Amino acid sequence: MLDFDKIFTNYNINDFNENLLTWFNREKRDLPWRHAKNPYRVWVSEVMLQQTRVDTVIPYFNRFMERFPTIEDLAAAESDEVVKYWEGLGYYSRVRNLHEAVQEVVATYDGIVPEEKEKFEKLKGVGPYTTGAVLSIAYNQPEPAVDGNVMRVMSRQFGIYEDIALPKTRKVFDQVIRRLMDPNHASDFNEGVMELGATVCTPKNPMCSLCPVQDDCYAYAHHVQDELPVKTKKGASRVEMYDALYCEKEGKIAFIQRPDNGLLAGMWQYPLTERGTGEQLNGTYMGQVKHVFSHIIWYIDLYQVETLPEEEYVWFTPTEREEKTVSVAQQKLERLAGVEGETI
Ligand code: ADE
Repeated sequence: MLDFDKIFTNYNINDFNENLLTWFNREKRDLPWRHAKNPYRVWVSEVMLQQTRVDTVIPYFNRFMERFPTIEDLAAAESDEVVKYWEGLGYYSRVRNLHEAVQEVVATYDGIVPEEKEKFEKLKGVGPYTTGAVLSIAYNQPEPAVDGNVMRVMSRQFGIYEDIALPKTRKVFDQVIRRLMDPNHASDFNEGVMELGATVCTPKNPMCSLCPVQDDCYAYAHHVQDELPVKTKKGASRVEMYDALYCEKEGKIAFIQRPDNGLLAGMWQYPLTERGTGEQLNGTYMGQVKHVFSHIIWYIDLYQVETLPEEEYVWFTPTEREEKTVSVAQQKLERLAGVEGETI
């Protein structure tokens, strides 16, 4: 177990807070969720930002807020439409859980995002990161919000060599933040550390000369920025090979819907069979698509066919297809087939 007293010996906590907050207020990026800040907008942005880069999130966030400006608007919407506004962001269980959670907030808490930790953390899909991020950024409560950026900054600042790939390591950084954070400025503290990790204390080639907390940084003093954080490689991804069938009849294209749970639940796609398991293919090869998920890699060969195996299909015109939610892998197949679908 890390010796917290030791790492804070001779460490100037006040200096860290002052330098960080001054820098953040001067340098923070102009991001849409930093305008018209309210707990609902903070919550949506933090869910989108988990696993997805800021640049990718910005247009999604703006479209989402235009369509669902209040928590009541989101709660009242049909699930299919909500998922459609997430199309392309991946990790779709995030948006299904968020939708269920805001419905509970409207039904149970009169549409007010609860600021009591015991209530907020019980909502669907809400884990320790979302709890800390929303309670601190929206309500200025002194809660840690530890994501990858925060672990990188802190591991370098204090010379912490715990493996950040292990789930239990987050708790170590929770403790560090609880000792370090100025409790009166929790919102700017957490966003400031995230911002520092995103813009200065980057994974590769950190810009230490621009860093406001360089003076007390262990990694800088010991020239070990490239060694920290320690992150063991995750296990190799599983490779899955599929054949997809593109079949057009009288202006309509054959689709199937994925099962209600599991990967890409409920999304629409061309008929897909695991390679080697379907009937002998009799079609024209159109090319291959590669799609990388967090633990799986798909290689999909696309064939244009005249007839399909005996199964249930739904036939969509291009306009009907546009209303459906499809995965990024399916969008890649459509590009290959030359029938690009519209996203919102
Ligand atoms: N990453 C996660 N949350 C963020 C935020 N509020 N601002 C910038 N980057 C973030």
